[in-house]
Amino acid sequence: MATMRTFKTIWLAAAILPGCARMLDQTIHSSARQEGCTANCTADFPDLKTWWHATGEINTKTPVADDNVRQSHLYSVHVSQTGHGQFYDSFVYETIPRSGKGKLCYPDDYTTMCPEDDGISIEDDIGATMAWSQFLYGRDVVLNVTRLDGKSITAADVVIRPTNLHLNVTAMGNSALISVPYSPCTHGLRFSVEFADDIWEYRNAGAGPNSYYVQDVNASGDGYVPNYNESMTIGGREPLNALLIFASPFPASEMVPSNRDNSTVVFNPGVYHFTGKKHAILSPSVSWVYMAPGAYVKGAIQYMNSVSSLKATGFGILSGEQYVYQANTADEYSNNKSDATSLKLWRGDGVTAGQSWTLRGITTNAQPFNGMDFYGDLDNFHVDVADYKLVGSFYTQTDGLQMYPNSHVRDVFYHSGDDTIKTYYPNVLAERITVWKTNNAPIIQMGWYSRNIANISVDRVDVIHTRYIGGSEYYPRGLVGSSAYYLNSTLTNTANTSNTIANYTVSNIRAEGFSPALVAVNLLSSIEDFKIVNASIEKFYPATTELDVSKVRGFTDASNGNKQITMGQRSRNSTGLLIQNYSVGNETVNFAAENWNAKSTGRLNIDPAFWGNWSVL
Ligand SMILES: *[C@@H]1O[C@H](CO)[C@@H](O)[C@H](O)[C@H]1NC(C)=O
Ligand SMILES: *[C@@H]1O[C@H](CO)[C@@H](O)[C@H](O)[C@H]1NC(C)=O
Ligand SMILES: *[C@@H]1O[C@H](CO)[C@@H](O)[C@H](O)[C@H]1NC(C)=O
Ligand SMILES: *[C@@H]1O[C@H](CO)[C@@H](O)[C@H](O)[C@H]1NC(C)=O
Ligand SMILES: *[C@@H]1O[C@H](CO)[C@@H](O)[C@H](O)[C@H]1NC(C)=O
Ligand SMILES: *[C@@H]1O[C@H](CO)[C@@H](O)[C@H](O)[C@H]1NC(C)=O
Ligand SMILES: *[C@@H]1O[C@H](CO)[C@@H](O)[C@H](O)[C@H]1NC(C)=O
Ligand SMILES: *[C@@H]1O[C@H](CO)[C@@H](O)[C@H](O)[C@H]1NC(C)=O
Ligand SMILES: *[C@@H]1O[C@H](CO)[C@@H](O)[C@H](O)[C@H]1NC(C)=O
Ligand SMILES: *[C@@H]1O[C@H](CO)[C@@H](O)[C@H](O)[C@H]1NC(C)=O
Ligand SMILES: *[C@@H]1O[C@H](CO)[C@@H](O)[C@H](O)[C@H]1NC(C)=O
Ligand SMILES: *[C@@H]1O[C@H](CO)[C@@H](O)[C@H](O)[C@H]1NC(C)=O
Repeated sequence: MATMRTFKTIWLAAAILPGCARMLDQTIHSSARQEGCTANCTADFPDLKTWWHATGEINTKTPVADDNVRQSHLYSVHVSQTGHGQFYDSFVYETIPRSGKGKLCYPDDYTTMCPEDDGISIEDDIGATMAWSQFLYGRDVVLNVTRLDGKSITAADVVIRPTNLHLNVTAMGNSALISVPYSPCTHGLRFSVEFADDIWEYRNAGAGPNSYYVQDVNASGDGYVPNYNESMTIGGREPLNALLIFASPFPASEMVPSNRDNSTVVFNPGVYHFTGKKHAILSPSVSWVYMAPGAYVKGAIQYMNSVSSLKATGFGILSGEQYVYQANTADEYSNNKSDATSLKLWRGDGVTAGQSWTLRGITTNAQPFNGMDFYGDLDNFHVDVADYKLVGSFYTQTDGLQMYPNSHVRDVFYHSGDDTIKTYYPNVLAERITVWKTNNAPIIQMGWYSRNIANISVDRVDVIHTRYIGGSEYYPRGLVGSSAYYLNSTLTNTANTSNTIANYTVSNIRAEGFSPALVAVNLLSSIEDFKIVNASIEKFYPATTELDVSKVRGFTDASNGNKQITMGQRSRNSTGLLIQNYSVGNETVNFAAENWNAKSTGRLNIDPAFWGNWSVL
């Protein structure tokens, strides 16, 4: 213990140096390496920290016991400092559709099932699971990922996504050894480890937007067909048993509380549960929630502080697994959707001008609803997010974070079923975001209401998977999308022509595997200087899914003589929408190559009213 404490001091001293936290290259005495430990040996060093839960429960079907943590039935992960030889255990968590509860209407009531669609159809019948392991590192490491089913693998069977990480993989027996580099200014790495024999191809029952998944493996499950035929088109391709790795740099010292007074709530390593009928409404004095590495909190957090900078930090996990879908806190946490009172795992009430929320390192699992909302003076409230991970979003209403004005969100992994990168406010920077998308909504969303926003930048988005049961005109699916009016999505006269979406740039966006359209927007505001720069799509969904074609539709303004919104009226060269360096497969799409239209490579179908005001170069 004494040795470990020394290491901690060295690290903290190193971390308070200005600029990037630098790790001193300590020679670690071998006695500290827990030699002779035979089970669940974790690392607690200045350059590597792993953790373990003694109450792991391997169970792919039902809720786990209150004090237990669901553990992967299929993978183990061990981590070693490169060149050191000794591997340490890193707990592999697992999440399953509905956390094994079924479609409960009321918490703990297994007799009443809700008929309402929650976005999960065949996923539990085919045995979909998602595992993840996370650790802190300060030097290059090697991961030993082992298949517990004993299946022997070759390096060629393993794909790491995003593929542009180009991590080196070798295989030995039933293990994959993955080299994970570290650099002092690292933002950490968040990636998916995928085995060729575990890829599930989602198929839709038929053409068109209102389809559903079919499956050919479980005759007692939903959507069973004995055989697929050619009208059952591909709607997604992803691992059945996902394994995600979250490698994080050690935190800056100001992200770990040193004073434990009444402003801070600390979850030490261990398992906490609030039940499916309660959540934590913090005292107004509390501004900081810290979840230590190895803390697993089955609950939700609501801040009530109107004066301080708010924080949630640490490498613990906040899990919504005990709540039913759309748990409504105003209705005994039953499945009864309310935007106002259905439970967000992160919420703050009564925020005032100048407050902010800093989020670092935390993983959120199994959101029952939108992940986060604050209430109060949101025009003067911002979020500062780094190294955030969202997993287990099998349900539909599982949005990404709100980004209030002047927010900075970076280094995020989103497994999300709904609007993922939500650009609803001005002056926002979102960067280095990895997305695994399920079922509903676009990846970047700017619609639902007419918005007057400018200066938005979304940079370096790697979309590693998407799956959809079909296209949707009013709730479009695309890399960049805009839904029709929230309160009545079938109306097309809900624009406000005095609003603009301006100076909005999406850059360096890549979609691996099957992708929906590049842009799918119902414009409720005029647009100026909207750019999509460096967009690459590996391939589109088949045309029968109606997911492939980009649509840009301009809505009209009922309160302004039904005039249509405009594009590019105040933009340079009147180009309101500029798509630059866009490729599909290996083909670059532009006007000169004449391969942009709805029937050719680029699949762009843009309202003729905007001809001359957009360009693909
Ligand atoms: C190791 O993990 C197993 C199962 O997860 C558990 O039964 C055992 O008690 C753990 N041992 C230690 C030393 O934590
Ligand atoms: C088939 O689906 C049923 C209903 O969801 C489920 O209970 C069963 O476990 C599934 N069978 C397999 C082999 O996954
Ligand atoms: C990887 O882990 C497995 C399971 O613990 C073990 O059998 C194997 O020897 C390890 N490989 C290396 C190179 O350490
Ligand atoms: C992968 O291995 C090659 C050859 O050993 C090495 O040059 C390269 O730097 C490695 N790449 C990474 C990302 O580790
Ligand atoms: C495919 O199977 C479905 C359901 O069995 C059937 O309705 C459809 O007509 C079939 N399509 C073709 C092209 O055979
Ligand atoms: C919190 O602690 C501060 C300083 O010790 C004290 O002034 C304040 O009354 C406490 N607030 C609550 C709600 O306990
Ligand atoms: C749903 O919850 C709201 C409170 O948000 C309540 O007014 C309403 O009666 C509930 N609906 C049903 C069907 O119970
Ligand atoms: C644009 O937004 C970014 C990110 O919030 C901010 O840093 C910058 O100051 C904004 N620029 C203007 C002109 O408001
Ligand atoms: C939406 O508007 C249409 C056309 O006016 C109307 O027929 C429909 O009832 C409206 N739907 C809702 C939910 O208000
Ligand atoms: C967009 O950016 C330009 C150039 O920086 C600036 O002149 C213009 O005012 C901005 N537009 C809006 C609506 O903020
Ligand atoms: C792109 O080109 C590379 C190298 O020529 C090739 O391996 C790959 O299959 C091509 N991809 C597509 C989608 O055509
Ligand atoms: C200006 O717009 C026209 C029409 O879209 C286009 O042909 C031309 O290349 C643009 N010029 C520049 C400098 O972008």
